[in-house]
Amino acid sequence: MRLYLDTADIDQIRRAVKLGVISGVTTNPSLVYKAGWKDYRSAVQDICAMVKGPVSVEVLGQDARTMVDEARAMAAWSEHVVIKIPVCDAGLEAISVLSRESIKVNLTLCFSLNQALLGALAGAAFVSPFVGRLDDVGEDGMALVADIVACFDRYGFGTQVIAASIRHPLHCVAAAQVGAHIATVPYAVLTQMIGHPLTTVGIARFLEDAQKAAGKG
Ligand code: E4P
Repeated sequence: MRLYLDTADIDQIRRAVKLGVISGVTTNPSLVYKAGWKDYRSAVQDICAMVKGPVSVEVLGQDARTMVDEARAMAAWSEHVVIKIPVCDAGLEAISVLSRESIKVNLTLCFSLNQALLGALAGAAFVSPFVGRLDDVGEDGMALVADIVACFDRYGFGTQVIAASIRHPLHCVAAAQVGAHIATVPYAVLTQMIGHPLTTVGIARFLEDAQKAAGKG
């Protein structure tokens, strides 16, 4: 399983890229608002230059034609741009047009197996089931990820499954266990994945013993 960073915060992306564990980034209009981007295009281009992997940016159009126009313009910003399109009639129509032009689409706001299936049939390169938001309303978000992975495997779809709306490290564990191709994680979750109290204690003890061995303890 690969990890993407789910943020529009350039500093967070810079720090995560240094770790060498991030192969892509996902943004959405709420994250862009939070990050306070002034120049959308150059922010995306900066991120693409840092990440050198898929960077999802979302269209805002409400009809297929506007979505396709927005997507074509954004796709020209960088070879790494992936267009995020929500599940709806217009979105599916736009995906089918864009996939024929080899513009990669990430089907977003996916909350059911049927939606994921439609996205794959329309030609989406990625589908993003929102695990945390399903958990929030009392449904099992990770069970949906597992169902989509099994369905795509069974029918040989090339569409990759991004476990999205990840809220805590256990979501990442579960995403890896059910075979998600990618988990897109907030920066806070990435840092939580690194730490373990036994690692902290172990490092301190090794350091202490090394100092003792050198006669400095
Ligand atoms: C995914 O691509 C979305 O940007 C994101 O995972 C949404 O997460 P949230 O439910 O925490 O807003």
